[in-house]
Amino acid sequence: MTDLMGIIKGRRSIRRYQDKEVPDELLNQVLEAIQWAPSWANTQCWEMIVVKDPGNKEKLKETLPTMNPAGKAVVQAPIVLVLCAKVKSSGYYKDKVTTKFGDWFMFDLGIATQTICLAAHDVGLGTVIVGLFDHDKAKEALRVPEGYELVTLIPLGYAAKGSAAPKRREISEFTHHERF
Ligand SMILES: Cc1cc2nc3c(=O)[nH]c(=O)nc-3n(C[C@H](O)[C@H](O)[C@H](O)COP(=O)(O)O)c2cc1C
Repeated sequence: MTDLMGIIKGRRSIRRYQDKEVPDELLNQVLEAIQWAPSWANTQCWEMIVVKDPGNKEKLKETLPTMNPAGKAVVQAPIVLVLCAKVKSSGYYKDKVTTKFGDWFMFDLGIATQTICLAAHDVGLGTVIVGLFDHDKAKEALRVPEGYELVTLIPLGYAAKGSAAPKRREISEFTHHERF
């Protein structure tokens, strides 16, 4: 049995990568993990672009502000997974939103993203979720069609350097009993 808590607690955001290829077999295992992520009414609204070309990675890096500490990771990692979503499907029924939260694609992609990061960590690969960048510029660079949004960049590869876990809130700080 896998040590699930060990994987959950041991995953860290990796911002420095070794110059070492990721075997296709491991990449496929990570992609297979997304396939099994839960989603609204099993909508599976995700689309994944696997970026390996240095020129494309450079274009993506240019969409990050200089203050984003993940800039180097986007060009250094051998692979950048670019997670996109089909809009107006998750949370919809007969073309109408069903809840006050509207489109649930961000929620479904959040679950898919964590699934990717945990599966990657399980096979010895590092990741970092990148959310701070110019999404429209990245969308244009990778020719994401209308009706889809490009949401996160996830550099994937072998960690060059680990990092300490940032401090977490205590369970008692965020857990409420019976009422908020
Ligand atoms: C939605 C989301 C967006 C993020 N965007 C960035 C980012 O743009 N740049 C970056 O360096 N880290 C980014 N992170 C990583 C967080 O900073 C990191 O998960 C957090 O500090 C906790 O550290 P840990 O992942 O090592 O546990 C993002 C994380 C999430 C969940």
